[in-house]
Amino acid sequence: MRTQVAIIGAGPSGLLLGQLLHKAGIDAVIIERQSPEYVLSRIRAGVLEQVTVDVLDEVGVGQRMHREGLVHGGFDLLFKGERHRIDMNRLTGGKNVMVYGQTEVTHDLMDARSAAGLTTVYEASNVAVHDFDADHPRVTYEKDGQQHELTCDFIAGCDGFHGVCRASVPRGAIREFEKVYPFGWLGILSDTPPVHHELIYVNSPRGFALCSQRSHTRSRYYLQVPLTDKVEDWSDEAFWQELRLRLDPAAREHLVTGPSIEKSVAPLRSFVTEPLRFGRMFLAGDAGHIVPPTGAKGLNLAATDVKYLSQAFIEFYADRSDAGIDSYSERCLKRIWRAERFSWWFTSLMHRFPGEGEIAQKFQEAELDYLIHSEAGARTIAENYVGLPLDFGR
Ligand code: FAD
Ligand code: DHB
Repeated sequence: MRTQVAIIGAGPSGLLLGQLLHKAGIDAVIIERQSPEYVLSRIRAGVLEQVTVDVLDEVGVGQRMHREGLVHGGFDLLFKGERHRIDMNRLTGGKNVMVYGQTEVTHDLMDARSAAGLTTVYEASNVAVHDFDADHPRVTYEKDGQQHELTCDFIAGCDGFHGVCRASVPRGAIREFEKVYPFGWLGILSDTPPVHHELIYVNSPRGFALCSQRSHTRSRYYLQVPLTDKVEDWSDEAFWQELRLRLDPAAREHLVTGPSIEKSVAPLRSFVTEPLRFGRMFLAGDAGHIVPPTGAKGLNLAATDVKYLSQAFIEFYADRSDAGIDSYSERCLKRIWRAERFSWWFTSLMHRFPGEGEIAQKFQEAELDYLIHSEAGARTIAENYVGLPLDFGR
């Protein structure tokens, strides 16, 4: 088989890149290790920045998002037992975010891909990338016991943090920057109305909590937990009980509990790969960088990476120009580091760090108090939360 761009991974970045290239008349095949059902079963991000909404609209998959998604113009910060609203919309001159789950985004992209009759190879095993440092890269994989080869002009590594693309780069050609946090997030999804119409980010002496949502009838909640905790250690009742203890009295009273329909623990990590281009192979999304989830930047970074990558391929095929390809890494990394910094800072401000004692809690509370009472402070949070425009860095 031959294609112009071989995309490894059918998560949000691979699927979105596939749609962007399809709209531009560039041929691409996606190779995915898992089944479509497995990909859709992973409950992850929930907040889309305006740039992500715009890219989804551009490729024609935005209709359901606009119908079912929830536009939020603010969120609450809860500390010292009191809630304070960050009026994002006012502080940023009218910007909002869209609450719409990653699962739904993935679903919409999968539907668009199959409606267009585009090729995705699911349940491919032993995927390997070859010769990306030369003119004719190849991808090999096994499917139904048969060995296959895909020749291409470019490889897009959209295969997540544990993928094969980054792992195939010679160690001397890559730099990796990493910080692992000493706690995880326990997440629960439940068919209960959200405790509040907007998100609540909670700093409490018992640890961080987040009240999020997927719709008016489906809630997503997270608790900071020790890294050693397993999902099995947490019954639904224990989760709700601990969440109540981290909330303010009004939220505690409004909280509607019910059986979980999904429960999982995610580790927290800051991670960046430099560069993101290796000859004719490019890394995009979680394959190239990870942010801790506080502030919901992961999926949004993946969307802007692939938007930049599609522009680079379009310039190559339509204008015979290498300019976009040559600047891809630098262009993405500028944006990535800005989001990495914000996610690290917001994580540091909101979580309990083992061994840091009560003084750390006091410092955090004083900083939060300063931020919400300062127009400049509140605007700093709001500006970072709504994200950077697409042409940032050009
Ligand atoms: P992925 O979604 O990881 O997709 C990569 C795809 O590549 C997968 O389908 C995988 O099966 C496939 N793949 C892997 N290896 C191979 C291979 N060798 N061959 C072929 N295919 C392969 N972000 C937020 O903003 N908010 C959150 O609450 C949040 N929670 C998260 C919780 C968890 C547990 C994780 C892991 C991430 C979370 N994120 C969150 C981050 C966000 O979900 C990611 O940034 C986003 O999924 C990135 O999309 P991606 O397509 O780059 O990577
Ligand atoms: C969600 C996750 C986040 O990390 C965040 O900052 C906001 C919302 C969510 O899953 O809904």
